[in-house]
Amino acid sequence: MRVLLIGDIVGKPGRQIVVRGLAALIAREQLDLVIANAENAAAGSGITPPIYRELIAAGVDCITLGDHIYRRSEINGVLQSETNIVKPANFPADAPGHDHAIVTARNGTRVAVISLLGRVFMRPVDCPWRAADRVLASLPDDVKVRVVDFHAEATSDKQLMGRYLDGRVSAVLGTHTHVPTADESVLPGGTALQCDVGMTGPHDSILGRRVDRVMETTLSFNPTHFEVATGDVRLNGAIVDIDEQTGRATGIRRLCFRQAELDTTTSAKTAAVEPD
Ligand SMILES: [Fe+2]
Ligand SMILES: [Fe+2]
Repeated sequence: MRVLLIGDIVGKPGRQIVVRGLAALIAREQLDLVIANAENAAAGSGITPPIYRELIAAGVDCITLGDHIYRRSEINGVLQSETNIVKPANFPADAPGHDHAIVTARNGTRVAVISLLGRVFMRPVDCPWRAADRVLASLPDDVKVRVVDFHAEATSDKQLMGRYLDGRVSAVLGTHTHVPTADESVLPGGTALQCDVGMTGPHDSILGRRVDRVMETTLSFNPTHFEVATGDVRLNGAIVDIDEQTGRATGIRRLCFRQAELDTTTSAKTAAVEPD
């Protein structure tokens, strides 16, 4: 089976390329399951209930988030009521949301989705390694396909998580830095690893935000609004091939789908998207 993880969706440009392009991508790449990190989907920070519904309607099967999960608190009800959106599993037990999801892929395979947050250059959270152990121990034995979104800053931590979970999950795929790494590989135990799958949004930017705004604030300390940029929109992600009988990955490759490709497809390229 084939699973896509879409990297951090940033603002309206990021949502637009997903809403308008994902159906064609699912067909072209023969995807059985699509997971998307949507922590930056609403104006660059957080996610709202209409945006959650918009992404699910576009073909996303499960949503992961990250350090910006609660930036728009109106999502909390969705986090508690829906079973295809997860909070980081190393958040406190009483933080809104579920610590894993089990979703059914198009080929009928049940897939566990787990989100973990790193601890380097990020707000202190519980141990992601122990949280992974806890969630994996709670999964039904017949759920062999398991995908981890490790939302973290440090590539060393991400490599270590891949090694720690090698043979126990199908893939450890990184998010949060918004910059894809060229280290995709299948580890000896059958776990696919990529330190970061990149960003879905405007790449003529600083991590999705307007260059001039980030530049001014960084150089002058004068606060500005880090508005979401608009140019060079790309959908970044990783596509993992998995043997659904064993849960072992058999391949991984990077995906970079550009606005220009979208404009040449016949999909609904003018479809409206939700406001931020
Ligand atoms: Fe992000
Ligand atoms: Fe993040």
